[in-house]
Amino acid sequence: MEPRDIDGDLTEILISEEQIQARLAEMSRRIEVDYAGTDLLLVGVLKGAVMVMADLARELHHPVTMDWMAVSSYGSGTQSSGVVRILKDLDTDLSGRNVLIVEDIIDSGLTLSWLLANLKTRGPASIEICALLRKPDAARVDIDVKYVGFNIPNKFVVGYGLDYDEKYRNLRSVGILAPHVYSTAAAAAL
Ligand code: XMP
Ligand code: MG
Repeated sequence: MEPRDIDGDLTEILISEEQIQARLAEMSRRIEVDYAGTDLLLVGVLKGAVMVMADLARELHHPVTMDWMAVSSYGSGTQSSGVVRILKDLDTDLSGRNVLIVEDIIDSGLTLSWLLANLKTRGPASIEICALLRKPDAARVDIDVKYVGFNIPNKFVVGYGLDYDEKYRNLRSVGILAPHVYSTAAAAAL
């Protein structure tokens, strides 16, 4: 348990810091084998993937380059709309590159399937997905995700990059947000 978790905002720590780091190490070993001897461009999706990108990239014993995209799909609620806007595009030309999209979480999959289709039009040599978390019960589209950290229940989670109202991103673990946090925010908005 970390001090920032104990203010009662989380009902449960779902995945501990140690579990995240151990899983990222396992995933990195697979990625190293799969991309041995080849160029690798990691594309992080802001802002949620910042932590997984930082830890994965440093865990990889493989030279990588990194670039970032920011897309918006959620508006203000917690339900994916499927309507995606690019807020910040890549600086990198993808033609001929081996691209690995680094994501924090796949929920409905709508954002990622849009992103995948978009990046595929830019002529990469290959394109795969690495996501720390996936909610299988929330899937609305089928996406082939090569590297998945953890399948989790269909609950709203925060920490390790994931936010509620921009908060909790700096928690080292992933936890389930306590209902009173939503209801307090809803009451304050009235
Ligand atoms: P979709 O549904 O399009 O959503 O796969 C992908 C994006 O939605 C955000 N998301 C979450 N953020 N806790 C969060 O803090 C969650 O449980 C959650 N589920 C989805 C996230 O930005 C993700 O990239
Ligand atoms: Mg995200």
